[in-house]
Amino acid sequence: MNRLSPFAAPSCAARLLLRPRPIRLPWSPVHRVFSTSYTQRSPPHLVYPVTPTKPQSYATPLLPLPDPPVQPAVKALLVLYVPYPPTQWPSHVEMEDEFVDRVGKVVALNRVRLVVAYDGEGGGNEKQPVGYRAKVLVPGGLVKDFPEITASTLTSSDFLNTLALVSSHDTLSTSTPYTEILVCTHGARDCRCSDVGGDLVLALRAEVKRRGERLLPSGEEAERKETQEGARKWKITECAHVGGHKWAANAISLPSLTFLSNLRPSHAPLVIDHLANPEDPELRRQLWKDHFRGVIGKEVEDQVASWEAGIASPPSKQLVVEAQAVAGPEIINTAVPEAERAPLVVRFTMHDGEAHDVRGYEGESLMEIAKREGLGAVEGTCGGHCECATCHMYIPYALIDPPHTGLVPDLTDAEEDMLDYALGVREEESRLGCRIALNKGLSEWSLGGKGVELPQY
Ligand code: FES
Repeated sequence: MNRLSPFAAPSCAARLLLRPRPIRLPWSPVHRVFSTSYTQRSPPHLVYPVTPTKPQSYATPLLPLPDPPVQPAVKALLVLYVPYPPTQWPSHVEMEDEFVDRVGKVVALNRVRLVVAYDGEGGGNEKQPVGYRAKVLVPGGLVKDFPEITASTLTSSDFLNTLALVSSHDTLSTSTPYTEILVCTHGARDCRCSDVGGDLVLALRAEVKRRGERLLPSGEEAERKETQEGARKWKITECAHVGGHKWAANAISLPSLTFLSNLRPSHAPLVIDHLANPEDPELRRQLWKDHFRGVIGKEVEDQVASWEAGIASPPSKQLVVEAQAVAGPEIINTAVPEAERAPLVVRFTMHDGEAHDVRGYEGESLMEIAKREGLGAVEGTCGGHCECATCHMYIPYALIDPPHTGLVPDLTDAEEDMLDYALGVREEESRLGCRIALNKGLSEWSLGGKGVELPQY
């Protein structure tokens, strides 16, 4: 079956509005919750694998990557392998699968980033409690496999200690029998990811085969049975929730944890060459200069240093300062334990006029509060990285000026750029909820009227 061509008419936004009614996933996690908002915003169900579209489909100019290219500072990455492919996921998989939601919360509190990947079918069924395979990775090639994470694993000391002490944990191993490339093919929120990402997956797999190297199929079972000695082994895995739709296709290489964006199928040979020869400076420079977006698990300064070294230009202090400004706030919000935050009430008004006064905490972003309360269309798909516009809200720009000065931060260029991707933008009101932290004054202002208004989509 042919898919829609990337960037061809109808536009991503139009396809978002025209998408069909939801189909239940063939596999049902035990604790799945169907939210009202998911039913209203049903995802497209593209069929995959698919015929690759023609290279000229990617003629649209690539958008410039953030400068400097860094990821929010976290300690490690946790890859959670689920048995359903990203092309079948709703726009926000946590709303569909409560267990994924719980894992996300536990890892966020430990400053570990979660990426959900597809492990092939057969990883679970309705009769069996939810249990997913996972691995924790830190830069330097250290990996710890968890054959199955269940609700009880989540509270086990082995799991929690691994997350808490991840950089010094002695059970992390350096054995990496294959190189894995996670490619985001999640198109329910932004079709560019599934369109370009899907074709990149096919191109990478074809490139591995063309070289006569071993391509491992999805699924733990297939991995375990893999006995072929000698040949270099690869695994090309579909994933979602990596952030930065407008720079699709996005990929993360494991175990190096390098984040690459703006990839096209034609880049497959260079990606494979670089990952097979990571110490080759020329291959690294060629790939990184247009595609590097940071290294997960490294502090911001270290990412900038890696970037500078990778493209062989001298480090600059200014670059580090700018990088911290880009990568800072979202982690602060999730890292503060609830008990240490001052509780406040904030009013959100839905698109149909229904008002909700909900509890939030000082310093918590409006995106996090609305998402936790399941309000409106707020998804925060990128995790608060200013890369998705799924936390779009209406807050008068007038709150920037006297007598309200300080209630909300000024609109930055990055926020303004991202708002181009929001639906139903209102002049002088549209903001991203992940950029705005709750404070006492904002709480009081919200309770004096409609407060923070939420869009329908
Ligand atoms: S959560 Fe993605 S832009 Fe705000």
